[in-house]
Amino acid sequence: MPANASSSTKSAPAPTGGGGRGVRILSTGVGMPSRTLTNADLERLMDTSDEWITQRTGIRTRRIVDHDAGECTLTMATDAARMALERGGVRGADLDFVILATMSPEMLCPPTACRIAARLGAGGRGARAGGAMDLFGACTGYVYGLNIAHDLIKGGSYDRIMVLGGDTLSRLMDYSTAGRGTAIIFGDAGAGALLIADPDPRLGIIAQSMHSDGEGWKEIFVPQEARDFPEGVPPDPAKFGRVQMNGATVFKFAVGTFPNLIQETLDKANLRPEDIDMVISHQSNARILQAARDRFGIPEDKFYINIDRYGNTVAASVPLCLHELVMAGRVKPGMKVMFVAFGAGLTWGSSLWQM
Ligand code: COA
Repeated sequence: MPANASSSTKSAPAPTGGGGRGVRILSTGVGMPSRTLTNADLERLMDTSDEWITQRTGIRTRRIVDHDAGECTLTMATDAARMALERGGVRGADLDFVILATMSPEMLCPPTACRIAARLGAGGRGARAGGAMDLFGACTGYVYGLNIAHDLIKGGSYDRIMVLGGDTLSRLMDYSTAGRGTAIIFGDAGAGALLIADPDPRLGIIAQSMHSDGEGWKEIFVPQEARDFPEGVPPDPAKFGRVQMNGATVFKFAVGTFPNLIQETLDKANLRPEDIDMVISHQSNARILQAARDRFGIPEDKFYINIDRYGNTVAASVPLCLHELVMAGRVKPGMKVMFVAFGAGLTWGSSLWQM
């Protein structure tokens, strides 16, 4: 993606109504943790095997933070934002807004995004200080963030928004045999993209969707106290602060929802599967992704899978895929790219872009 140095200064919010403007994904970045957690490492921590994990999930290795070295959601997402700024030729001070999709912020208060904005030079006390917020959308958070940021720019009030995804699920895992059905899946990462206004009104989102079903909350949750456990599940203090996932139910939800989500988005855009140049999906499980790919007859090179190397990195997974594809020259201006994600909430959403 060509760098487009933005020489203009940060705009004062313009009146809403973006007229004929479009929205462009200018640049991307990642911030990866330093440690690696392989299936062989997990074999030493719990009763599991490389064969079981690979066959059921397609995951071979993940990256996780070195907590003692200070690595965390804040540092990974900040690194990703710095890379995206540098690659886009934009100064942090020129950002209008920073969105961090996450389910593992540093603290519940303040929003981690505010601390990222400060590190980027986007915040401050003056009239030019950019806003910042955390978006709690679990694995769908990044796609929700893309849709929201796009429409804020399209509406004409803002010109440059950094949309980040960062999660440190290793801190919410039980790496013993008791937690093996969940701990094998997740990895840590930060990644993101810089969205900017573009004079070409054809650029940006062609179709989008955002859905939720809160009745399904108990399929993936992080209890903090006894009353957080669903009816019929005995509260267990050892599970406080640890992700509880009903893997088989989530699997069925994902396999059922995923094709509907793709079809709904194609219908809204009046497009066929073959019109899409790349599908960038949240990386939950290789089998779920392959099932959706086969259902629509999408060739392998148009449906990216990198879960084997990173596991499920929650809100970071979609921008991590995007960054890798941009760097490899496989996502370029002119392409139609469909982002799709689903996860805890339950939530699911899509964002189909004319790049
Ligand atoms: N290693 C070895 N055995 C394991 C294991 C592990 N890591 N985890 C679970 N098992 C065992 C179970 O104890 C169970 O044994 P039992 O039959 O003796 O009771 C057996 O394997 C089957 O467990 P189950 O949970 O039904 O496995 P599964 O086939 O559903 O696979 C997941 C588990 C988690 C891989 C799978 O359900 C999945 O991928 N779900 C979707 C998760 C997801 O995408 N989450 C994120 C959403 S954004």
